[in-house]
Amino acid sequence: MDRMNRVAWSRASALTVLALIASQCTPSQPAARRAGSGVQSDAAVAAQKTYVAPGDLDEYYMFSSGGHSGQIYVYGLPSMRHLSTIPVYTPYPATGYGFDDDTKKMLGELTWGDAHHPALSETKGDYDGRWLFINEMNGRIARIDLRDFKTKQILGPVPNLHGNHASSFVTPNTEYAMMATRFSRPVPNRVVGIDKYATEYKGIIAGVKIEPKSGEMSLAWQILMPPFDYDLGDAGKLASDGWMFLTSYNTERATGKLEVTASQRDQDYIAAVDWRAAEKAVADGKFDTIGGVKVIDPKKVPGIVYLMPCGKSPHGVDVSPDGKWIIGSGKLQGVTTAFNFEKIQTAIRNKDFTGEEDGIPVLKYESIKDAEVAVGLGPLHTQFGPDGWAYTSLFVDSAIAKWKLGTWEVVDKAPMSYSIGHLAAAEGDTVSPDGKYLVGLNKLSHGRHLNVGPSQPESSQLLDISEEKMKLLYDAFTEPEPHYAQIIKADKIHPIEVYPKEENKHPMAIWDLKDAGVTRNGKKVLVKMIAVRSTLTPTSFEIAEGDEVTVAITNIEQTTDELHGFGLLDYNINIVIDPGETKTVTFTAKKSGVFAYYCTNFCSALHQEMQGYMIVK
Ligand code: CUA
Repeated sequence: MDRMNRVAWSRASALTVLALIASQCTPSQPAARRAGSGVQSDAAVAAQKTYVAPGDLDEYYMFSSGGHSGQIYVYGLPSMRHLSTIPVYTPYPATGYGFDDDTKKMLGELTWGDAHHPALSETKGDYDGRWLFINEMNGRIARIDLRDFKTKQILGPVPNLHGNHASSFVTPNTEYAMMATRFSRPVPNRVVGIDKYATEYKGIIAGVKIEPKSGEMSLAWQILMPPFDYDLGDAGKLASDGWMFLTSYNTERATGKLEVTASQRDQDYIAAVDWRAAEKAVADGKFDTIGGVKVIDPKKVPGIVYLMPCGKSPHGVDVSPDGKWIIGSGKLQGVTTAFNFEKIQTAIRNKDFTGEEDGIPVLKYESIKDAEVAVGLGPLHTQFGPDGWAYTSLFVDSAIAKWKLGTWEVVDKAPMSYSIGHLAAAEGDTVSPDGKYLVGLNKLSHGRHLNVGPSQPESSQLLDISEEKMKLLYDAFTEPEPHYAQIIKADKIHPIEVYPKEENKHPMAIWDLKDAGVTRNGKKVLVKMIAVRSTLTPTSFEIAEGDEVTVAITNIEQTTDELHGFGLLDYNINIVIDPGETKTVTFTAKKSGVFAYYCTNFCSALHQEMQGYMIVK
């Protein structure tokens, strides 16, 4: 039997077994138990739709934010199998991230980050599978290369910007990623009493320029904003290309108990930023330099930013696939508003304003909205499917509403377990959403998994959205906290399996065992090491107490899966070297004696023999 037939056979037989099991004994699905023989129960159908047979591959990747774990979790869909964890803002011993010299330097002094919103790079508004960006609260944004699923750059903490929540949403050709403050403070940062919050504290919206070939990020400009709390954003696309939209709350400019003080007004704002105008203003020299950053003051430079009144305390703002509508919701309301981009432009041209905030015009709500869609209570975020379908998460209702752009008709609701926050549809925030799958990223999971004590996981629920009615397919669980996720067609990403030898330009790379060994330059010692099945060469080396030691290890394997580790006991050193890769780790030999090092990553039958000694005299 060839592989294809074997897979087909195993899939068919396994599905039969699954269907039988599901129809006979699914304790959490009483309806399934009642279904008679011959009738496929809901659970059996769901099992078939999510079952990916051993050896088969998933259809989509899902990149999910790991919140304050500082990581990104990679899932396969529809199986919801956890495939990989990409460390970004946190050391991760499993891959040696944050231990070797380069990643340690990239993390800097911060060894945690609250990662929020992943943003896949785009070309013409569609995911192109090149990079993944993700922000975190300590004023940083990171780029992951999807060629090897590794974090390549962390920009920041950037000056002036405090609490980078409304980030990292990219523009349709990945010209920019956004950053914006959740916490306003004096700009530049200095001691100013909280009693002067309304006038002396400032918000910041920033444009991070992305180099089109390398993906290298740099801080291009910032816009000085009123001291609101900026929350989320989305870039305009097609009809609205060139604009960024960011929600804000606490437009009262209140301090103290915000749950009370920031709930005085009826509405808050969505900030609409003309980023091409911001780009031009900076090119024309219309900026002040604050903290080394080019900062645009809208009071002095009009035409950059406008405020759109929106339901109280909005969370998400989402641009429809054609770019015509901007969907924003007050998170305690029963409706979500569809703003019309054409009407926004007309209102700007006609100066159809109701006031201003620190020199920024406020557009008239009635003039820019097309509809208030009665989606249900607590609308947070909207994702899209093909044919104008929109899906809005409802925190208070704990459900997802399916509705239609243009007719504004709500056609279906799916309950979520429990308290949904974000949601992600297959390519659901691009110019051409796929439909098919939708994942609800829920805050609470109680009672739907084996008890693991008080530290409960988050719940992610997979729905089938290919038909008129949404159908729950699968419950999956993650560590905190999936603030947002994006789902990309698997065939758009082509990761390498080894680092090609000819691409390794590391100055300390060696490929021949005879080049391995110790060189000394005063108190600096360089140990060039080769890792290959099943020896770490040299198998021992001697240094003196107080030496500054750099161990440079090249894994000369060119075979898939042949990773080697280097764990050095008592010295808190643990790195992993992928095939074809060179990594360095530098430390001071503070303790004398004999210390073992060994390969931490299972690599061969003789993995256990892959060991050596560092002797510190
Ligand atoms: Cu090399 Cu285990």
